[in-house]
Amino acid sequence: MSDDSDNRKPATRLAQAGRRPEWTRMPDQPGGIVNPPVWRASTILYDDVAHLRAAVTNTHERLFYGRKGTPTSWSLADALTGMEPGAEGTMLFPSGVAAISCALMAVLKPGDQLLMVDSAYDPTRSFCEKMLRPLGIDTVYYDPLIGAGIEALISERTRAIFLESPGSLSFEVQDVPAITAIARAKGIVTLIDNTWATPLFFSALSHGVDISILSCTKYIVGHSDAMMGSVTATPQFWNAVQSTAWLFGQMVSPDDAWLAARGLRTLDVRLRRHQESALAIAQWLAGRPEVARVLHPALPSCPGHEIWVRDFAGASGLFTFILNGGDEAARAALIDSLRHFGIGYSWGGYESLALPVDPQRFRTATQWNAAGPAVSDALSFAPALLIRTSIRP
Ligand SMILES: Cc1ncc(COP(=O)(O)O)c(C=O)c1O
Repeated sequence: MSDDSDNRKPATRLAQAGRRPEWTRMPDQPGGIVNPPVWRASTILYDDVAHLRAAVTNTHERLFYGRKGTPTSWSLADALTGMEPGAEGTMLFPSGVAAISCALMAVLKPGDQLLMVDSAYDPTRSFCEKMLRPLGIDTVYYDPLIGAGIEALISERTRAIFLESPGSLSFEVQDVPAITAIARAKGIVTLIDNTWATPLFFSALSHGVDISILSCTKYIVGHSDAMMGSVTATPQFWNAVQSTAWLFGQMVSPDDAWLAARGLRTLDVRLRRHQESALAIAQWLAGRPEVARVLHPALPSCPGHEIWVRDFAGASGLFTFILNGGDEAARAALIDSLRHFGIGYSWGGYESLALPVDPQRFRTATQWNAAGPAVSDALSFAPALLIRTSIRP
């Protein structure tokens, strides 16, 4: 559980988190290692049957059976919990998508209605349509800029509101406090995909969110060599998240947990460099005649920029820009000609990537208007590029 009265700076917490003596020291020996090592396990051997039977009663952070983790994964989960003031605990998942789907399953039941932000990562939308809908859980998509207007969409059946801020591909920054205040007053649970900002740049639970989800594959691992997801919950929702993850048999490999924990230690410095590199490129692009618009939350041209200024402690390294005209072939030629940007999925690693993106394929409640509200529909499908910056200067 994170400590609300803990006044250490987030970067200090990062350096100190998840290093409990019982995970880093040998009994009866002075001193200890800095990082909890990789504990690999399936079978745990008990001293006798009495210990085996006793172990069943509380398996959280106890050696019980490999699927319930070892100190390697507990340490990472503990560190992520420590980064979110007000959190009770964190469960780890083999991918960000696994974390999102399990968090939704933890709070929804047949007959419920989910309000889903229109700019959600597209596999999140697919989960709603292909898994939740057949289970009798309806999803209503809402405009990411709706703010307090969300109240008008709430019905008797609304059980949960899912946020992602900024949104995938189109980067709208949501008014999280306005939405969570209404949700709390009506007893509706809120979940956020906080992958872009991480708890370092946006403290989700402090802004009223109940459940914060990360694709740790991105900035937490940080080196493009492991997949992972996490769900961090308030005391009210912690049991539901934990038991649902256990029911689905979700777990992570200790080697991957160790890699993620190692990445986490340098998150603060890496994110700041991402911020610096991305802003330099975004500002340069904004001044180019070939570019119609840059969707970077720290620039006024991004929808919800003023909310980013109000609520966020920084900007990470992922943004989109829209070409001033041109077609599919021109966009591909531009990307193919980049010397220092790779072409591939994911982000948050130390290298740079550029991708063609077409948000209109994943929007139903809003219209993707690539060239801005004043521009005709003809330009609304203008080519967009997703830029993922490196931590190089
Ligand atoms: C915003 C966001 N959330 C979640 C995910 C899913 O994460 P993973 O690839 O670890 O399943 C991604 C992946 O790109 C993402 O961009």
